[in-house]
Amino acid sequence: MNETSATDNLEIASAPAINPRKVFVKTYGCQMNVYDSQRMADSLAEQGYVATQTPEDADLVLLNTCHIREKASEKLYSALGRLRKIKDERAADGRDMLIGVAGCVAQAEGEEIIRRAPSVDLVIGPQTYHRLPQALARVGRGEKVVETEYAIEDKFEHLPAPKKEQVKSRGVSAFLTVQEGCDKFCTFCVVPYTRGSEVSRPVSQIVAEAEKLAAAGVRELTLLGQNVNAWHGKGEGGRELGLGELLFRLAEIPGIARLRYTTSHPRDMDEALIAAHRDLDQLMPYLHLPVQAGSDRILKAMNRRHTAADYLRLVERIRAARPDIALSGDFIVGFPGETEEDFEATMQLVRDVTYAQAYSFKYSPRPGTPGADLPGHVDEAVKDERLQRLQALLTEQQYAFQRSMIGKRMDVLLEKPGRLPGQMVGRSPWLLPVIVGENPGEIGNIVDVRIIATGTNSLMAEMVAAKRQANAPLALETQS
Ligand code: SAH
Ligand code: SF4
Ligand code: F3S
Repeated sequence: MNETSATDNLEIASAPAINPRKVFVKTYGCQMNVYDSQRMADSLAEQGYVATQTPEDADLVLLNTCHIREKASEKLYSALGRLRKIKDERAADGRDMLIGVAGCVAQAEGEEIIRRAPSVDLVIGPQTYHRLPQALARVGRGEKVVETEYAIEDKFEHLPAPKKEQVKSRGVSAFLTVQEGCDKFCTFCVVPYTRGSEVSRPVSQIVAEAEKLAAAGVRELTLLGQNVNAWHGKGEGGRELGLGELLFRLAEIPGIARLRYTTSHPRDMDEALIAAHRDLDQLMPYLHLPVQAGSDRILKAMNRRHTAADYLRLVERIRAARPDIALSGDFIVGFPGETEEDFEATMQLVRDVTYAQAYSFKYSPRPGTPGADLPGHVDEAVKDERLQRLQALLTEQQYAFQRSMIGKRMDVLLEKPGRLPGQMVGRSPWLLPVIVGENPGEIGNIVDVRIIATGTNSLMAEMVAAKRQANAPLALETQS
């Protein structure tokens, strides 16, 4: 999962009430925060809240935060500075505004947040969102509330599933958390401390939520987990299942035409999952498989528990199973002790693998993680310079990948109207947005197109045919 891909100010669809309370939700961080914000929004809608897009207008502001790098955390305190002013202005008008902080900074800093920013009324960690209504009731009685207990099993059990109208307003592609937490303890990373240890949701819960989403028109599911490929569960007769088997089960649900999952750890890519890439048509040929670095010395210091050669061999096996698979990755430059030679090994690994897309970051020491105490911290200027070199190479690979799409025929899942009349924007199997002209059809349809040009971060296509909808629910089938 990746911090750069979060969406903002969430829409909550619910029936308008007379003078309903209004909530403004802002999401930082990774896709799991996006998913969690949606679940919190669903729970608030049950409490009679409606969404607003402006904090000035809000009775409740909820910031769903990210702790992954220093910059990500700082965003919270600058947002709180702005909100305090709004809260004071509203108070002068006799209108209350409650401020809640959720997410990974809430979990990591707890009551320290209220000490630093006394205008905050509620701090709630990612494992206790199902207690949001009770927590808000306590806040309403004038208490300052900090809920950072670790109660993840309850969370999965008690958060309300999305309702049809809520799903509809969010589109045909949906996130579904199947696993949360991490036991890997990479030495740079806060996630094991903010999200706790690995927990897999049971198959029955996942299938029930997927069926609801499908019934509301969702056609593509992206299964989420900090280590999604560590997901495991029990099937019929107590049979042990892994993510590969779960994907096959979800593919049976009428309406679900596409499946994706993120983020995977190289150590947990098992044979069954690789085979699913070969055998399961609905599983899209795209895999986010972070490696972080290409030097074995640095990989060891990061506690990644694999070598560069292990990763390359794994990529080979995945490509043997699914030759057209596109890979994306995450990289950290300037981990403590990284020499020029170590960095060169990362560049070489990138050249060897060839990525369709990637995220790269300067190492950011995080309090409480072992990496922060390692000797040999790298100069900011050196980190900057390495990041630039790495990003130049990754961007070159990304554009080469996009250019390789020109002339190709592919299926595109239509997601929303484009900017020009008659245009629709959809997704290619390789995740890139595709702009299709000539009134290609309804949202949710899958159409057969030919790519004719590339933009910066999208492709342009012409229609070949409106396809018969594979695994389509009846209502959609009649539209194509
Ligand atoms: N569970 C996912 C990643 C979670 S964080 C995984 O294992 O891949 C997303 C990315 O942020 C990581 O892959 C890593 O590249 C980056 N990241 C995490 N901690 C960081 C830190 N302290 N400094 C810089 N980048 C970091
Ligand atoms: Fe963080 Fe490593 Fe766990 Fe990913 S696998 S969440 S990078 S500790
Ligand atoms: Fe996600 Fe950021 Fe937490 S990346 S898991 S929101 S620290």
